[in-house]
Order: sequence, then structure tokens, then C-alpha cells
Amino acid sequence: MKLFLDTASIDEIKEAAATGVLSGVTTNPTLASREKMEFRSMISEICSIVSGPVSAECVGKTRDEMLEEARSLAEIAENVVVKMPMGEEGVAACAKASAEGIKVNMTLVFSPNQAILAAEAGAYFCSAFLGRIDDIGWHGMDVLAEIVEIYANQGYTTKVLAASLRHPLHVTEAARLGADIATMPFEVFKKMFKHPLTDIGAERFLQDWEKYQRAITGA
Ligand code: G3P
Repeated sequence: MKLFLDTASIDEIKEAAATGVLSGVTTNPTLASREKMEFRSMISEICSIVSGPVSAECVGKTRDEMLEEARSLAEIAENVVVKMPMGEEGVAACAKASAEGIKVNMTLVFSPNQAILAAEAGAYFCSAFLGRIDDIGWHGMDVLAEIVEIYANQGYTTKVLAASLRHPLHVTEAARLGADIATMPFEVFKKMFKHPLTDIGAERFLQDWEKYQRAITGA
């Protein structure tokens, strides 16, 4: 499972990219609104930091508006993937854009049927918003499991992107269920590295190494 960062923060993306395990970035209008930067310049800078897919979202309401936006966003950089919202307009725009060779990330997917529509429209990614399903008292991971099963049964090539992940266990579960990608906030990415036994173990190794060095040098 590939790890993406769900952020528009250049600092966060640079820090995560420096670990060597970051494969892409997803943004959305809410995340973009938190940064003091013009949108196209922001996407262009993110694309220069990360060589993998960088999602930039359409804000048009009609299929024609979205298609026009998609063509323009796709020109920013080769690794731009255009996000289009689930719905009749988004699906129609996705089908046309995909036929033109534009990679589309179908976003705001909350059900297996919506995921089927995304795949039939030729989406490159299908973003299932798991945390938001949990928020309304349903099981986001059950929806993810169904989508993964359906895509495998049908031989769909659209990649399943587990989104709206809120904590490290969401990442573990998404991987167990066979998601292709997990996109997560920076804080969740940082937490993936952490385990109290790792910290204790590393400290003990260093102490023992120092003792050993003192013993052989007689210092
Ligand atoms: O990638 C989708 C994600 O940004 C939504 O996350 O936490 O706003 O539900 P959240």
C-alpha cells in the first residue's frame, strides 16, 4: 500500500518526502484554504517536491466546467491527478476527462455503488472517505472492504484510495483490507513511525554501546 499525505502544506510535504516513503499527495479545497498561497502555484510547487501523483480538485459545478478545469489543472505538471466529486456531473466529467487521458481521482465516495460508478467512468483513483463514514456511526472499513472485493471481482483497474483517515489504526486496517493507497494527515504519518518500545530499545542500545566503549578504552 502506497502512502500519500493529505495536506497542502509545503513544509509538511517536504518533511514527509525526505523520509523516502512518501508516494503522493492529495489536496482538497479545505486543505488549500489553510495555506497562504495561490492555488496553481501551490500545486506546481507540490509537484516539484513529490514525483508521484498530486491530486488537485475541481470546483466547477457542471460537467463542462469540471472538464475545462481538469484540462487546465492537468497542464500544471505531469503528475497532477484531477479530483472530481462523486455525482452525476462528476461522473460524466470523469468519463470524458479519462477518455482524454487525464487522470481523475473520484472523490467524496461513501458507498460501494459510488465506487462502481467511479470505476466505470474510468477513474484512476477512487477516494473512499472512511473517517467521515465513521463520523455518522457507520463502519467506514466495511465500505472499504466491499469496494476492494468488488474491484477485484470485476477486474477494475481503478486504484482504491483510502481517504479521510484519522489515526494510525485506520492506516493498518486499510492495508489489511487491500487498499492500494492510504492518504493521511501529517500527524497520522508521523505517528506511524512511533512505538514506545522502539524508543526504549534505541535508548538502551545507545547506553550499552557507551558502556562498552568505556570498558574497552578504560575511560
Ligand atoms: O482526502 C480526503 C480528506 O481530506 C478528507 O478528510 O478528515 O476532512 O474527512 P477529512
